[in-house]
Amino acid sequence: MELRGATVLVTGATGGIGRALAEGFAGRGAAVVLSGRRAEALEPLAERLGGRAVVADLAERGAAERLLDEAGPVDVLVANAALPASGLLADYTLEQVDRVLDVNLRTPIVMAKLAGERMADRGRGHLVFIASLSGKTASGHASLYNATKFGMRGFALALREDMRPHGVGVSTVFPGFIRDAGMFADAGVTLPRGVGTRSPRDVAKATVRAVERNAAEVDVAPLALRIGAQLGGVAPVLSAAVQRRAGGQDIAEGLAEGQRGKR
Ligand SMILES: NC(=O)c1ccc[n+]([C@@H]2O[C@H](COP(=O)([O-])OP(=O)(O)OC[C@H]3O[C@@H](n4cnc5c(N)ncnc54)[C@H](OP(=O)(O)O)[C@@H]3O)[C@@H](O)[C@H]2O)c1
Repeated sequence: MELRGATVLVTGATGGIGRALAEGFAGRGAAVVLSGRRAEALEPLAERLGGRAVVADLAERGAAERLLDEAGPVDVLVANAALPASGLLADYTLEQVDRVLDVNLRTPIVMAKLAGERMADRGRGHLVFIASLSGKTASGHASLYNATKFGMRGFALALREDMRPHGVGVSTVFPGFIRDAGMFADAGVTLPRGVGTRSPRDVAKATVRAVERNAAEVDVAPLALRIGAQLGGVAPVLSAAVQRRAGGQDIAEGLAEGQRGKR
């Protein structure tokens, strides 16, 4: 996919990673359509990047359809908006459970269906899903987040096969802990020594590259975390024991506390 002159729709553009994604795609010469809930953060960003802003609450039924209608024809959809969904399931109301499932999983599916059909009609396009290493390995205090990100991975891999004959690419991006901005950085949790991070710009660069090369999956994390995520896939019980020994519970509880405001 040649990004110069392409129209790229980024959801969650007001967030730490979304802002970097918007800058990354605009920097490649794409026309960006940016979406988020907070107009006061969205509109100046869109103006700075010469793009358009469409305010949408993607937890609402019908919002994804309206967003796509307002965006017009898009060549690349980047489904990035999400809630952190950290903490114990028992601490969630059913309304909060629904909101997490709607924003993190249902909306990306609905948008991929609608945007993907239009792309298939034109014989070109690309769908990008911003998942997480939590879509490859499970951790305590993250059951809802794991559910949505594991679900996103399976959905995207299958869809990639179905879209292949129609000239539409599908990529999934798996960030680890992202520093400086975004839902992890905002939580103010200190990681144990030796656990590395990546920046929002690293995620943006990897995402742009994934679109340009039609990569199926790309991890954005230091080697040790990527290996840990692989272990979680092939040996989940061992992975849980390793995480327990490495202080995973403290990190998870810290995240749940720091992200309580984003439910
Ligand atoms: N940060 C990390 O360390 C990390 C690691 C792995 C994966 N990820 C993934 O990266 C993506 C971006 O995360 P981030 O760190 O940038 O998070 P963030 O700073 O919390 O931003 C989340 C974005 O999602 C939007 N959003 C939330 N609820 C929404 C709703 N109901 N309707 C529309 N938009 C909504 C927010 O919009 P408003 O702010 O305008 O409400 C915001 O733009 C997510 O998919 C996340 O799971 C992040």
